Amino acid sequence: MKNNFSNRKITIVLVSVFLFLIVLKFFYPSQNKITEIPADNIKGSVWTKYKDWPPIDLVYTWVNGSDPVHLKKKFCDALDFKNCYTKYPNINGFTDHGELKYSLRSVDMYMSWVRKIYIVTNNQIPNWLNTSNPRIQIVSLEDFYEDPSTLPSFSSPSIQHQIYRIKGLSEYFISMDDDNFITKPSWPDLLVSQDGKTFSTDFYWTAVESHSKRQRRIGHNEVKGPRLNEFLESIKYVDTLYDQTYGYAYRSIMPHAPGVFKKSIMEELHKRFPIQSQKTIRNQYRHRDDFQFQFSYFWYLIQEKEFNFEEYFQNNLADQINNNLFDTNKWNILTDALGLKYHSDSIKRITRKIARENHILQEDGMVLTLQLLKKSDYIYNALANKYSSKLKYNFKFVDSRFRFIAIGPRLSRTKFNIKEYYRNKDKINFICLNDDLPTGDHELAIKIENIMLNFLKKHYHKPSQFELKDNKRNSVLRNDGLTLDDFD
Ligand SMILES: *[C@@H]1O[C@H](CO)[C@@H](O)[C@H](O)[C@H]1NC(C)=O
Ligand SMILES: *[C@@H]1O[C@H](CO)[C@@H](O)[C@H](O)[C@H]1NC(C)=O
Repeated sequence: MKNNFSNRKITIVLVSVFLFLIVLKFFYPSQNKITEIPADNIKGSVWTKYKDWPPIDLVYTWVNGSDPVHLKKKFCDALDFKNCYTKYPNINGFTDHGELKYSLRSVDMYMSWVRKIYIVTNNQIPNWLNTSNPRIQIVSLEDFYEDPSTLPSFSSPSIQHQIYRIKGLSEYFISMDDDNFITKPSWPDLLVSQDGKTFSTDFYWTAVESHSKRQRRIGHNEVKGPRLNEFLESIKYVDTLYDQTYGYAYRSIMPHAPGVFKKSIMEELHKRFPIQSQKTIRNQYRHRDDFQFQFSYFWYLIQEKEFNFEEYFQNNLADQINNNLFDTNKWNILTDALGLKYHSDSIKRITRKIARENHILQEDGMVLTLQLLKKSDYIYNALANKYSSKLKYNFKFVDSRFRFIAIGPRLSRTKFNIKEYYRNKDKINFICLNDDLPTGDHELAIKIENIMLNFLKKHYHKPSQFELKDNKRNSVLRNDGLTLDDFD
């Protein structure tokens, strides 16, 4: 009898534990397996931890580099196509390896909580893409450019600085290139906190690292040796601008990795640096003086101070100025903020600088007015840096979960880089496969390209929900109806 009773007790306990586990499984599905696609956004998802998060969309920029219409528009405006190929032989090299397809597979597998996926193109449509998928939207530059008269644009910084204007885009969005791939389940809090107040990234080469041999320091004219490419030049341009704005600092470069951006901060950034951002947006081709997108955005976010200029003005400068006459006291405040001695030369220097900002040529007779002072970025920056100790945003550097895998130009290096990835893969969520195939040795180029393709096929073999089924292909590959004939 006693035995029976304890058997029953054990059964009850076992059944309860079993039921409890089922209930637990129901409420807390394994965070490591992404099995269901959220209906709309993170909120609609089954992942309890993320149910109160705002929606996050994903924006890709994509170019079909083998599209002759695109090549013609980009390189051959005034030339005929054949001559153009001879003039720019490397345009043969712009072939599409289907990176976007694999990148979307990786998102489908490991980041399927993103709500909508926008693919920004120069009127091109990938031949394998199912454009009927409700989560996919192809956007052309005309759809969101502030001033479409500056189009066409082949400049990625110009395009990137405008994508926040895409109609219907979520307030927080991820910007990602098609050579980026997700390698394991990755959650939004890797990039931004739930309240949107803290942005974090593990993608930065840290400032310390940037001094090491692994990466050349490129700011402050310290780089010697080979000519910098336009990308590095534009980083240097922003670095120098930010030195003038926020003070001298060692700023690390963010590699080619996905990041979370916020629409309202983009607007703020453009208001804060109107000349630089407008110039970049209007460039049709990449330029060395571009306001590099990630670098300008994230370093603004890291460094911008909370400063109420108006209030500071009213309290410290305005009331004692009879609009155009400064007293010693005020000049002291200004020279002090600018790190200058109070001296007639300093006063001349400040006046000259403000005159230049306002395109006033006759500096000598210029009288510094309250209005001019108030409009001056030079003064704003100096006062903000001196009298505000509060940063506007939070930012966190975390351990790197990103790996840049250089594909080419050498075979041994490529193999080594991939091995390196496997050795560290437990710590890596995002990779960039950046191909720099050797020119001249066609066979070698193919060999190296195949290493990359095999890697992608191995890791992302299952077609995603964004692809046409049964190897179907779109027949129309441009949504502007242009063909080569339109150029003759
Ligand atoms: C790219 O464009 C070429 C030429 O129009 C086309 O043959 C190819 O299918 C396109 N590739 C993709 C991925 O759409
Ligand atoms: C494209 O996607 C739609 C909506 O998801 C689906 O109904 C359709 O079967 C797909 N078409 C192909 C050819 O895969």
